[in-house]
Amino acid sequence: MDMFVVHGGRRLRGRVRVSGAKNAALPILAAVLASDGPTVLQGVPDLVDVTTLCQLLTALGVEVSRERCPSNSADQPENAPAEPVNGPGLDTGLDTADACVPAGESPTEDQDQYVPFPFGVGEADDSVHTRVPALKLEVINSGPCLADYELVRRMRAGICVLGPLLARRGRACVSLPGGCNIGDRPVDLHLKGLAALGAELRVERGYIFACARRLRGAKIYLGGPFGSTVTGTCNVMTAAALARGVTTIEAAACEPEVGDLGNYLNRMGAKISGLGTPFLHIEGVESLAGCEHTIIPDRIEAATLMIAAAMTRGDVVLENIAVDHMTAVIEKLREIGVAIETVGHAARVTVRRDLLPADCIMLPYPGLPTDVQAQLMSLLTTVSGISIITDKVFPDRFMHAAELARMGASIRREGPSAIISGVPDLSGASVMASDLRASAALVLAALAAQGDSVIHRIYHLDRGYDRLEHKLNDLGAGIVRAQDVPLNMPASLSINPAEMLPADDGGHELRGPKWLRSRENLKIHAPEEA
Ligand code: EPZ
Repeated sequence: MDMFVVHGGRRLRGRVRVSGAKNAALPILAAVLASDGPTVLQGVPDLVDVTTLCQLLTALGVEVSRERCPSNSADQPENAPAEPVNGPGLDTGLDTADACVPAGESPTEDQDQYVPFPFGVGEADDSVHTRVPALKLEVINSGPCLADYELVRRMRAGICVLGPLLARRGRACVSLPGGCNIGDRPVDLHLKGLAALGAELRVERGYIFACARRLRGAKIYLGGPFGSTVTGTCNVMTAAALARGVTTIEAAACEPEVGDLGNYLNRMGAKISGLGTPFLHIEGVESLAGCEHTIIPDRIEAATLMIAAAMTRGDVVLENIAVDHMTAVIEKLREIGVAIETVGHAARVTVRRDLLPADCIMLPYPGLPTDVQAQLMSLLTTVSGISIITDKVFPDRFMHAAELARMGASIRREGPSAIISGVPDLSGASVMASDLRASAALVLAALAAQGDSVIHRIYHLDRGYDRLEHKLNDLGAGIVRAQDVPLNMPASLSINPAEMLPADDGGHELRGPKWLRSRENLKIHAPEEA
């Protein structure tokens, strides 16, 4: 298992390119199951979750291969979201002509150009300046229908194969995703939507068993206690695309990643309109033909890099971002005092004044994304004053707070909120990552902290960030990936006995009166008092 050793206190400077969006790539990869013919996906980030999903697709009869190392970044197409093919889609205002192949035309066949799966994460090329290789996927065996617990338990997005399997093969057996560190994550809305389309469903032995001769259009309300559901909308929308008749989905998720999936389905011949709004209208079609598609930029990675620049008081230019997908984040950072200039697909992030505390409420899109909550908390820990963060999507998503407190942050939990009293500095420490975004928040805190930090369990980070330490190191950070063994612990984090003596008492025993005083304050009883 790996860990990061982070040398804090360095300002980040330079240009960095944002990768394709994990949360768009995963449901789009799953939707390949609903298609006929080859699909070529550009801009799929190189992540552990993508590899896990490719493993799942291979088990479900999809041939997955990756382009041999592509040419370098000079001639790479932007991850610009494509124009919607038909129906009033997601208007991003970005030009995209070179990224699209019209519906029905299958991508050119060049076997030698592709390496069959399995291919390891990061094997392509770890330079952040090389275009990520395209993935080519084609269903070659539509027999298998089992999405095994062993794969789905590693990545919740595995649930996204349920809708496509059911719609295209008429049956599916998908493991329930199980528990998660960020809080309760039921899938009742997914099942409600698929049942409305006529699927017969039962949950047994930890699996969802689903079957339907042919799904039929329906009027579906997908709103839940915390608003819409992202992957629930993806599952039901993909299934409805192949159902007989018209489906309307109300309270659909409006996330750009859902829009990107809708664009991909429309490119394959689906008839989905209303993307980017809570009202989707879907006219079912008989089949979907493989196509070429480019994944949108990752707005959560972009937000993470923006906050990294702000926390280190750096000067960073982000390339390949979809500014329109980041309105709430950019506005909040500007409110805090971060200077963000945007031009086309790029943004420059600097800090030229003292930052201000803020009140942040995480909501479904277009609100502030819950996936940026932890990173925002890191930023606000060193902003003088009182800040409040409330997560209305995952009210218990605060595992990172205790770890930030180990670095000297002052955070108090109150139900779905955290109250942060800004401290002048964070100090380096050993901390433990608990989930994907929490690990990113700890990396940011470590970059800004005084001294060295060690972040354990960074496998969480590898699941959802494409070569993050390379990108940050290219901007001047000091991050070392090392095997998580005591030998690799930086000396600065080991405590030597001399440090435990009160500085100004010239070496008296630990039991001196001052110690008592502080122990009383901290309500710690010295052994002899018990
Ligand atoms: C997606 O998860 C993302 N994952 C999450 O990102 C993200 O945090 C989340 O959307 C919210 O934006 C992917 O896209 C792969 P939801 P998803 O269904 O679809 C409740 C990351 O860090 N709910 O929109 O699983 C649920 O408990 C990950 O990249 C139900 O009650 O989230 C939550 O409170 C973490 N019943 C809320 O809705 C349901 O059937 C939103 O969940 C489904 C959800």
